[in-house]
Amino acid sequence: MKRTYNNINLQNRNSFGVIEQADRLVEFETADDLKALFSEERPSKWYVLGAGNNTLFTQSYNGTLISPTCSARTTLNDDGEYVDVRVEAAHDWDEFVAWSVDNGLWGVENLSAIPSSVGAAPVQNIGAYGAEVKDAITAIDYFDTNKLEVVRLKCEECQFGYRESIFKHKLRGVAIILAVEFRLHRTPTPNLGYGDVIREVEARGGATLRNIREAICAIRASKLPDPKVLGNAGSFFKNPIVDKSVAEQLLQSYPDMPHYPVPNDANSVKLAAGWLIDKSGLKGYREGHVGVHNRQALVLVNHGGATGGEVLHFAEFVCSVVHNKFGVDICPEVNIL
Ligand code: EPU
Repeated sequence: MKRTYNNINLQNRNSFGVIEQADRLVEFETADDLKALFSEERPSKWYVLGAGNNTLFTQSYNGTLISPTCSARTTLNDDGEYVDVRVEAAHDWDEFVAWSVDNGLWGVENLSAIPSSVGAAPVQNIGAYGAEVKDAITAIDYFDTNKLEVVRLKCEECQFGYRESIFKHKLRGVAIILAVEFRLHRTPTPNLGYGDVIREVEARGGATLRNIREAICAIRASKLPDPKVLGNAGSFFKNPIVDKSVAEQLLQSYPDMPHYPVPNDANSVKLAAGWLIDKSGLKGYREGHVGVHNRQALVLVNHGGATGGEVLHFAEFVCSVVHNKFGVDICPEVNIL
């Protein structure tokens, strides 16, 4: 069943907590609801709003926001080792991770405590602590608003990359994700190579699924602000990928600069935007209602009462300071409307 709300206040529908409005918001449950919406009166301007964890509204939205409410989780197959699970778009991401850990299923534990809905997770290929959601996805069903039918994509067809997928490019403005299918497994595959993870896991008694989840939840809670307390959208910027020669030059001046290889691209290097912002002297810096978080410089926060326009203006300021200091351009990871 679909439900329509007119002139809706978005403050409780975006994790930044910015005060903006939308002309219309339509909640849908099934592909038939979407078929009815797009065949009866195709909205001229629309955007899919999941749980609103990665979207910044910079002004009132004069179009239709489309939001899923379907949240079923179904086990499709269990052969004793691999378990295939289908999860609908509005299912909370972390509740799915918690369920998999409770059931002894490996594959998504490093992605614990990421604020997201399941439907939004593949759009930016959420990733943390050496894992990306693409590694657990087998297929995605979406509603194609041009063809007015459900289309199924295999994982290999989703063009996943670092914070990238086909849903941000070719299928932007076309696809509405209905459900994601995952393959989890029972053989333990602890992935502890990133940062503090191994230390925190060992402090809890070793690499069990539960200890990994608890360690990651604790690391995230110590660095990342809780959006319920301080409005934010996680990392505001992507880590920039630069030419190897640019990284080498910077390393001469800043030998301690974090830098990471880019898979399948020996000529590029990934830098840490949080480090660049921090070294630009902006960690904890605040202007009016908006600031850089004081424990993780990659996160911009709404100290209360900010408009989306103010957040955008502040983000542009951060980019210009980093550019002036390092000559590196950092770009938002958050969807800006
Ligand atoms: N750093 C600083 N100062 C800071 C922040 C970071 O010097 O204020 C340095 C760190 O010391 C480290 C490097 O920068 O050497 C990287 O920092 P960190 O390990 O915290 O990870 P990140 O690159 O800042 C990424 C993801 C996060 C994810 C973490 C952990 C992106 C854009 N962000 O952050 O994802 O949780 O790795 O895996 O890739 C998100 O997308 O919303 C998000 C939180």
